[in-house]
Amino acid sequence: EIEQRIDALLGKMTQKEKIGQLALRDFGMYSGESLADIKQQIRDGEVGGFLNVNFSSAEGNAFADLQKLAVEESRNGIPLIFGQDVIHGYETIFPIPLGQAASWNPELIEQGARVAAEEATADGIRWTFAPMIDISHDPRWGRIAETLGEDPYLTSTLGVAMTRGFQTDDPTRTDAMAASAKHFVGYGAAEGGRDYNAAYIPEATLRDMYLPPFKANVDAGLMTVMSSYNTLNDIPATANDFALKTILRDEWGFDGFVVSDWNAVMEMIPHGYARDAKHAAELTANGGVDFEMHTDTFRKHLPELIKEGKFTEEKLNTAVRHMLRIKMRLGLWDNPYPRGNRDKIILSDDHLAAARDAARQSFVLLKNDNNLLPLTKKTKIALIGPLANVPHEQLGTWIYNGNKKDSHPLVPALKDYLGGDSQFTFVKGLDYSRDTSTKGFKDAVKAAKKADVIVYVGGEESILSGEGHSRGDIALPGAQQALVTALSETGKPLVTVIMAGRPIELGAIREQSDAIMMAWHPGTMAGPALVDVLYGDYSPVGRLPITWPKGEGQIPVYYNHMATGRPATDDNYTRIADIEIGVFQHVPGNSSNHLDYGHTPEYPFGYGLTYTNFDYSDLNVETAKVSMGGTVKASAVIKNTGKVAATEVVQLYVQDVVGSRTRPVRELKDFKRVTLAPGESKTVAFTLPTSQLAFHNRDMQLVTEPGKFNLWIAQDSASGLQGEFTVVDH
Ligand code: IFM
Repeated sequence: EIEQRIDALLGKMTQKEKIGQLALRDFGMYSGESLADIKQQIRDGEVGGFLNVNFSSAEGNAFADLQKLAVEESRNGIPLIFGQDVIHGYETIFPIPLGQAASWNPELIEQGARVAAEEATADGIRWTFAPMIDISHDPRWGRIAETLGEDPYLTSTLGVAMTRGFQTDDPTRTDAMAASAKHFVGYGAAEGGRDYNAAYIPEATLRDMYLPPFKANVDAGLMTVMSSYNTLNDIPATANDFALKTILRDEWGFDGFVVSDWNAVMEMIPHGYARDAKHAAELTANGGVDFEMHTDTFRKHLPELIKEGKFTEEKLNTAVRHMLRIKMRLGLWDNPYPRGNRDKIILSDDHLAAARDAARQSFVLLKNDNNLLPLTKKTKIALIGPLANVPHEQLGTWIYNGNKKDSHPLVPALKDYLGGDSQFTFVKGLDYSRDTSTKGFKDAVKAAKKADVIVYVGGEESILSGEGHSRGDIALPGAQQALVTALSETGKPLVTVIMAGRPIELGAIREQSDAIMMAWHPGTMAGPALVDVLYGDYSPVGRLPITWPKGEGQIPVYYNHMATGRPATDDNYTRIADIEIGVFQHVPGNSSNHLDYGHTPEYPFGYGLTYTNFDYSDLNVETAKVSMGGTVKASAVIKNTGKVAATEVVQLYVQDVVGSRTRPVRELKDFKRVTLAPGESKTVAFTLPTSQLAFHNRDMQLVTEPGKFNLWIAQDSASGLQGEFTVVDH
């Protein structure tokens, strides 16, 4: 039915109106045009949608006002689509996506997206520029904060959950939004972690590492895709027909629309790929982008390009069909206007409760010597640090509609929980994360000396991660290391809570702290969520969705790398201290590690502690031999050997021992969350179809090759019970 409606509409539309559908204008940034001009363009059918419309205009709800012009005053009455960066919440802000990914909890992520969609659609936004499912191995890259981590399987699972949360099973619902998987493709592989930089990815790696999350989302009914800023193997992603047409359309059958990134069409000129705006339009439109974000080259140049035979009416119709299809799937003709009721929906108690839950599930406990955590109400604490009580810094990057006035920081939450401030003293020590002045140290140390336990909350301000905000040095900025050193010299037990958009270099802090918890940027409900976990009302469940490097010199370091011919092991790796003075050749013992960093990261992918211990035993690989097309079955017994109930994330890894291309040392294939009471044990079983062991061979065919596989049921990517199975070809 939708296709017939599109045919009928296309039959009525002029070429100018068709091209108009391909224009996504930035409401905050049109230049050289007045609001009156833009309104006239809407009436003339020359705008397909807007981004960055603010809710309130002088006349009321700006979304409704603009939509009225399209629906009631344009010739064809085609509704506009309103898009926005609703990335980790609308006004109720959830943890940054990397933090949400640390929950390893698809239901939680789906719920977060649902809350965001309920709020954004109240104002009239029916399309979000999320999920961001770029794979990255580089914590210097500022946008790593927006990713769901380094692993294709985890990112696929969580990305699909986010898309489902936004879109629901029925996108015509007025509280549903079209999702946009971004950035297609390779953006996370920017050289040196410098944003917007070139990405060089061999095709097989592209297909095995970077594309699977997009494919999984397309298979799950994803409505839109955003192309990326980078060049991929020297061709800008904005006009990369191999990615946008051959893979996305021809191989995967994607039938929604593709939007370019903001200004990316014109950026092909400085890239040295397009000569001018007209050439950029020609390359982009032919390359597979349907909807041009912000710039206006399609509207200005496509008519001429069609006349010259450099673009065709047929291709134009295809692009417009993609646009209309998504608008129709959203039911915009029946419900073009905002659903309203914002006061009841936005920042509701339910939404705040969901954000609190998401925040506490995102925290990763990295160290907890002598079970320093959880604290008790009787513990006298010195709360110190530049990020301990700053409402806006806990929100993180890309919070277009978030507001610090709605943010609940730690000090009031502590007061609430402890019934006043007699059990804690708060001293900032540093004014902000990059502060280099030591003038506040004296008061901080004084408070520390009087306390039983020091809780230091530091890290990075929100602005140190996110788009265009990469760092070369990922250590704690400012004088934070010096402050932590001064605090640790008091001899008092020290809990370090890190709020940051990336794993940071811990350096001396790792030894100086008795407990370390990664809190990412936790969002609106950071304060109450931190209290929940620090005081043990909630046992930490977060696991690292990314390998934590010792320092930037170790980057890239990721768990699912290929083996070398001289793999480094605990026994053989070369330490800088082992090299005698005067020795200029150190053989044997040469292995694949840095002399100074050793052969392991600070913390492996999948790692995270709880307030209990889990014992893994009785690995049972039921299927020692599996026929091609069959199913691998394996289980292990997990027991809570501690004193409190907690949730374990049981992880299944495999390694294809010999392949026609070398294979990663381990790959995550599945995980299960299991909550166990003290003393309780459960058998956790996995089933894995052999199709999930497939990779792209040298001919770019997706194949499972027969042979031996190692398997681990594990707490993280560096440990676990190891077994094996063989896939046989009959
Ligand atoms: O959605 C974003 C994208 O991730 C980066 N550039 C701007 C877009 C729209 O704001």
